This record gives sequence, C-alpha cells and structure tokens, in this order.
Amino acid sequence: MKKSILKLIEQHGTPLFILDHRKLRDSYRTFKKNLPRVQCYYAVKANSHPEIIKTLFLEGSSFDVASYNEFMQIYKYINHFEEKDQDLFIWDKIIFSNTIKDKETLGKIKRYRPLVTFDNSDELKKIKECCDTAGLILRLKVPDTGSQVEMSSKFGAEPGDADHLIRQASDEGLVVEGVSFHVGSQCTNFDNYTEALAIASTILQDARKKGHPLKILDIGGGFPVPYDGQVVEFEKLANLIDTECNRLFPEDIEIIAEPGRFMVATAATLITEIVGKSRRDGKLFYYINDGVYHTFSGVVYDHWQPNFSAFRRGKMEVCAVVGPTCDSFDKISLSVQLPGNLEIGDYLLTENIGAYSTASSTNFNGFDGARIIHTNLRR
Ligand SMILES: Cc1ncc(COP(=O)(O)O)c(C=O)c1O
Repeated sequence: MKKSILKLIEQHGTPLFILDHRKLRDSYRTFKKNLPRVQCYYAVKANSHPEIIKTLFLEGSSFDVASYNEFMQIYKYINHFEEKDQDLFIWDKIIFSNTIKDKETLGKIKRYRPLVTFDNSDELKKIKECCDTAGLILRLKVPDTGSQVEMSSKFGAEPGDADHLIRQASDEGLVVEGVSFHVGSQCTNFDNYTEALAIASTILQDARKKGHPLKILDIGGGFPVPYDGQVVEFEKLANLIDTECNRLFPEDIEIIAEPGRFMVATAATLITEIVGKSRRDGKLFYYINDGVYHTFSGVVYDHWQPNFSAFRRGKMEVCAVVGPTCDSFDKISLSVQLPGNLEIGDYLLTENIGAYSTASSTNFNGFDGARIIHTNLRR
C-alpha cells in the first residue's frame, strides 16, 4: 500500500485525492445485494465527479439530483439514446429530491414528466403552475436523532399535514405517487429508520384507503459508513430495513433509496503533505497543504471528524492539523494522535474521504485543492 501510494505521489504530487472505482462498484453492489427490493438512486450531491457518475451509470444505478445542473450531469450519459428511451430513463431512474425547486428549473424539466419531491402547499402551487406533468413524492418529517447531519429542521411535512397536502395535490389535478423521508446523514441510530418506516406506512395506507393511488416509498439516504469501529455494519441495518419493509409495505409498493455517502465515502483516500510546523502553547501544529476550504470542507459542512495517519513512525502525541490558508478558521482538527517527529515534506493519509469533501471544495486564497486521480476504472 505504502509503496503504491508513494509512486502515485511521485507521479502526481500532493494533495492527492485517490478515487478507487473498485470500491465504488463494491459499495453499489453491497447496497443492491443487501436491499434487493430497493432501487438505488445515487445522491449526486455527495460527490458529483463525472467519473463517479459514469461508473455508477455503467453499474445500472439510478440517480437523485437536486438541481438542473446535476440533472444535466446524468443527461450527458443518455444524450445518445433515442428520445423515447431518454424519456423512459428519466422517468424511471431520476428523482429530483430537492423539496424546493425554482420556477425556471420546473419549467425546464416539465417535458420529462419528472419525479419530484415536495413538502408544502406553496411548492405544490408552483409545481402546478410550472410542471404539472410531474409525479409527486411527499417528503415527511421523521426523527433524525443522533445522525451526523440532521435534516428535519429544514425538510419534511409534519405527518399530521400529509392528508391535506395529498388532498390538495389531488384537487389541483396533480398526482402524488408516494412518500419519502431522510433520517439524517450518517445515521447510526437505527431506530430512526424503524420509526420513519412506521410513519410512512401509516400515511401510505391511509392515503390508499382514501382512494389516492400511492405506490412509491422513498427511504432517502443516511446509510452510515464505518468512519470508526462503533458503526454497526451496513448488513445489519439492511436486514432491519428489509424486514420492516416486507412487514409494512405490500409488494405492489415500489421502494427506492437515495444513498450518497454510503456509495462514495470509502472509495477515496487523500494524501497531504506537511508544509509547516510549529509549537503553539506547547501543542504541536502540523500545517498541511489541504484544509477546510478545500478537501476537508466536510469538517464544516458535514460535521465530519477526519482521520489521519502518518507514513513515519514515532512517539505519538496530541497534535493540531491545520490547513494552508491565511485564515485561522482553517483548522482541520485540534486533537489528532500523530507521531511528534514528523517533518516538513512528510505525508499524511486520510481515508474514507469520498463524500461531501471535494463536492464543497473552493479555491479560497488561491489554493487549487487536491488533484483527483482514479484507480481501478473499468471501461
Ligand atoms: C434529499 C436527500 N437525499 C439523499 C441524500 C444523501 O444522503 P446520505 O449521503 O446521507 O446518504 C441527501 C443528503 O443531503 C439529501 O438531502
């Protein structure tokens, strides 16, 4: 491992973001194998790199997009299809999961009869005005207790409002096709899924009894990755979801999911280089050539705690690892166990950095961010 990484560093320099497409394919296949009833829509926002989309497209994935630009990133791969096959692909394999869509976007996607989510009455009016061909998914507010990133303070209708929203849609001549939820990202509290499935089941059954032909359950994202040893394996969560889905939802309900992090997080490793070193109030600070404005942006936006390891051995101590910019906010972590004898020019390695990292990287202060390279591409 160390040898092959040093070779890549020699070729490409640092910071270096190494994306392993075999791991990407493995994650997709693990997801499909353990949740056989669930159609997998990769949440492009987690990492929209075109090569990731291409690999997942070739695996047969469906896609969850939040904007017209994300939609066009998928469209690129079906551009050469005949028009009717394009329409079929979009209709069957793309969901617009952002509950708020501007009128321009709605106007542009109207011709595709898209599947779109909503969670409020004003959005319904906008959809009616600008995109009445859409199939609608009502997003519900569900518990996100303990998840790394919570969702329910910004998204999701109160379950008690579901009945009137479905009725309003129907009165407007719109079609509600199903319900969705998101239990919060990196959800390690599996009770969130159990409760969300129960809420969704009650609402689906109730709506069906009242004559609304709902047929889709969208269980969102949130599937956790093993950032540390505490995270229970995906197989256990998948078994719980599969069992609950079979208990609560009849076979004619199609089940879909929008995993982002689970697909890409473990596929990437970042190599950074120590470019400065100082002791401040007794604590050793390593300044590296990537930071929170760049590949470590997940520290800010994703509440992520990165891991670091060094190539050189030495007596461990609690260190600070900070970014290269002229901003004191650019501190990646103030409590990393690293050897105290690392020197300028030494490398650090950060694993599981594929999700919500390069996706929100900037060029702040004139630093370009990591070079992205791909391994195990299959073409
Ligand atoms: C609507 C929606 N679906 C799916 C995802 C992906 O979630 P995760 O990366 O936790 O799987 C997100 C993440 O923010 C989201 O907002």
